[in-house]
Amino acid sequence: VIKQVSTIREKVQALRCGGKRIGFVPTMGALHEGHLQLLRASAQENDVTICSIFVNPTQFNNPDDYKLYPRTLEQDVELLKTVNCDYLFAPGAEEVYPQQPLLQFSFGPLEAVMEGEHRPGHFNGVATVVSKLFHFVQPHKAYFGQKDLQQVTIVRQLVQALSFDLELVCYPTIREEDGLAMSSRNKRLNVEQRQIAANLYNALQMARGQLGQKAVAAIKEDIRNYLNQQDQVELEYFEVADVNTLQPVQDLSEVQEVALCIAAFVGPVRLIDNLLVNLK
Ligand code: PAJ
Repeated sequence: VIKQVSTIREKVQALRCGGKRIGFVPTMGALHEGHLQLLRASAQENDVTICSIFVNPTQFNNPDDYKLYPRTLEQDVELLKTVNCDYLFAPGAEEVYPQQPLLQFSFGPLEAVMEGEHRPGHFNGVATVVSKLFHFVQPHKAYFGQKDLQQVTIVRQLVQALSFDLELVCYPTIREEDGLAMSSRNKRLNVEQRQIAANLYNALQMARGQLGQKAVAAIKEDIRNYLNQQDQVELEYFEVADVNTLQPVQDLSEVQEVALCIAAFVGPVRLIDNLLVNLK
């Protein structure tokens, strides 16, 4: 476990000099199977795997969400041992942010929708911390999950725009048995809310079944009605988006593949999920 930026930099430099290929899985901890699949893939495809756990303050637009975000470092360390992770980089906030950055990222239309629209400043914080982590760890390959589709799209743009010399890899969403997408925030749900939360996935499946049979506006209306009937669920958005541009789609005949994207509160916990659907 490495906590200092200077130490991880030295380690990475030595590894790179020794010709080792480095795989990197950035996380905010409270690790679950979604994270572990990324770590296993990295261990298979690289000589050395580095995981980071850092609950990044600059990407939280809601102070309670930051305060209550689950922190389970000891348990995480044990899990990391089971997937052949070589190093955990777990810095404190003062290591990553000795000064508050003034630099602002802008991703244009990519962040004008969905998470970007509903969480002001979120992707600026993500881009800032991911850039810093990429500089610290200098990975050959970096692993992300489709669960956070807009994040991986924006990080891809970041890598391209700033010429980071690495390959971005994206793995599918890992789900619980009832379909709920695994998420560290699920740990904050009580038993009842946990059961109710599976309705987000049910809604996505319902929408998938209606593609091609109903107009997009009618599908959105149905999903809104379905979720409004559920106790403790408050839908923030449901979108049918072009998978490449993430812009809302009205006419399905114009696109090849769509992402059905949802964000909703279940009790006090905000959850997101998505399904990719190939229309051709
Ligand atoms: P975190 O939410 O911990 O997620 C770390 C990585 O695991 C992300 O790439 C995310 O998409 C992936 N992931 C989470 N749940 C998943 C699931 N059920 N199936 C597949 N992959 C899943 O995303 C972040 O942290 C942060 O924003 C970070 C990129 C670390 C920057 O702070």
